[in-house]
Amino acid sequence: MSKRKVKDTHLPIGECITQVHHILRKRFCHQQLPDAPEGVEAQHRHLMELLKRSAVHGESNSVLIVGPRGAGKTMLLRSVLRELAEETEVQKNLLQVHLNGLLQTDDRVALKEITRQLHLENVVGDRVFGSFAENLAFLLDALRKGDRSSSRPVLFVLDEFDLFAHHKNQTLLYNLFDVSQSAQAPVAVVGLTCRLDVLELLEKRVKSRFSHRQIHLLSTLTFPQYSERVRAQLSLPDDFPDAKFAQQWNAAVTTLCEDKSVRDVLQRHFDSSKDFRSLHMLLMLCLSRVSVAKPTITAADFLDASRSCLADAKANMLHGLSILELCLIIAMKHLNDVYEGEPFNLQMVQNEFRKFLQRKTNSMYNFEPPVIMKAFEHLQQLELIQLADGSSAKTQREYRLMRLMLDHVQVMEALQKYPQCPTDVKQWAMSAFA
Ligand SMILES: Nc1ncnc2c1ncn2[C@@H]1O[C@H](COP(=O)(O)OP(=O)(O)O)[C@@H](O)[C@H]1O
Ligand SMILES: [Mg+2]
Repeated sequence: MSKRKVKDTHLPIGECITQVHHILRKRFCHQQLPDAPEGVEAQHRHLMELLKRSAVHGESNSVLIVGPRGAGKTMLLRSVLRELAEETEVQKNLLQVHLNGLLQTDDRVALKEITRQLHLENVVGDRVFGSFAENLAFLLDALRKGDRSSSRPVLFVLDEFDLFAHHKNQTLLYNLFDVSQSAQAPVAVVGLTCRLDVLELLEKRVKSRFSHRQIHLLSTLTFPQYSERVRAQLSLPDDFPDAKFAQQWNAAVTTLCEDKSVRDVLQRHFDSSKDFRSLHMLLMLCLSRVSVAKPTITAADFLDASRSCLADAKANMLHGLSILELCLIIAMKHLNDVYEGEPFNLQMVQNEFRKFLQRKTNSMYNFEPPVIMKAFEHLQQLELIQLADGSSAKTQREYRLMRLMLDHVQVMEALQKYPQCPTDVKQWAMSAFA
């Protein structure tokens, strides 16, 4: 009976909207860790097991978490640490040192920070050390238990790990990995990085001391999963104080996600990035338009939010291009449509351009191949096109595989606003996109 009563609580609309903002903002602004990080269960288990072995059994270890920005590397680590902290054994034992390559820009600063975070400034005092290794060994030694039988395990987290590889002689990395390999003291080293090729940056002696364990956070999300994620992110939880309001809100969100124009917006975001961070940015902009006077999110909100998210420098850059360069972009876009995003080379682009020219009687576009090559190079300098993965710079220029770094909408919008764009070029673009 009482349960029913709670369920039927009815709050004034103003109160409900305040609650909606409160709950969703917390979710979108990353002030709280998600209860269960979604889609990374295997990685979570793996990292948990590794860190537990260090924290509880005092084993040494090293591991790298690799994934693009916003993929959830920090989140994964923090949620594992949160779970670990629930065990009293760990609470009593584990020490943590958090370093960031953007802050600790050389190893001396890093060592100072390590000393500070381990609360050993007083122990070190004015002591002077001969080498980095000696200093680190002293610190770890200071952490030994009273009977000196064992040492407390220390977890070193190195965010932006790749930046540490640029430090002189990679001293910090060398020493941390060296300790993690020897039986001196239980040490776990966790590096977070968005560089897949990070191992290439390590010197041989450093690399050989690393365990070569890597945890990858690469997204294999499909569009239906993505739009389901959007729905879940916008939905209110079951324990929302006004159940009826929550029910209506969630139903409206479900309908909204099925709307054609919303799906188009989402598809575009999905094509450019699949991570939570950019999604949260979009949803936050939508949420900011919810008020007592307008207590739902509408498709128009999505369109506007998407426009402000994607208002980008690239489309503006297109306005400064020559007609030839613009034509090449249209030809590439056409190739992209025909070959479904496969990379192309200059030869193919030229052929496509020639097909357009052949349809015309008076050709004012008579460009010599070297001129076209120059235009192509300019586009590459502007990073509107880029060398495709795996294509080598050694290949003859005409045959190098390239990719266009613009999407359909960007090209079309730029064309519409292009000053004095010739009508036939515009028509060609239209026909290419039809
Ligand atoms: N699997 C996930 N489930 C829920 N939220 C996630 C997930 N992955 C990332 N996020 C959200 O995205 C935000 C960005 O992730 P973050 O860990 O900062 O990325 P990275 O460190 O890889 O750049 C996190 O704060 C978190 O709120
Ligand atoms: Mg991070």
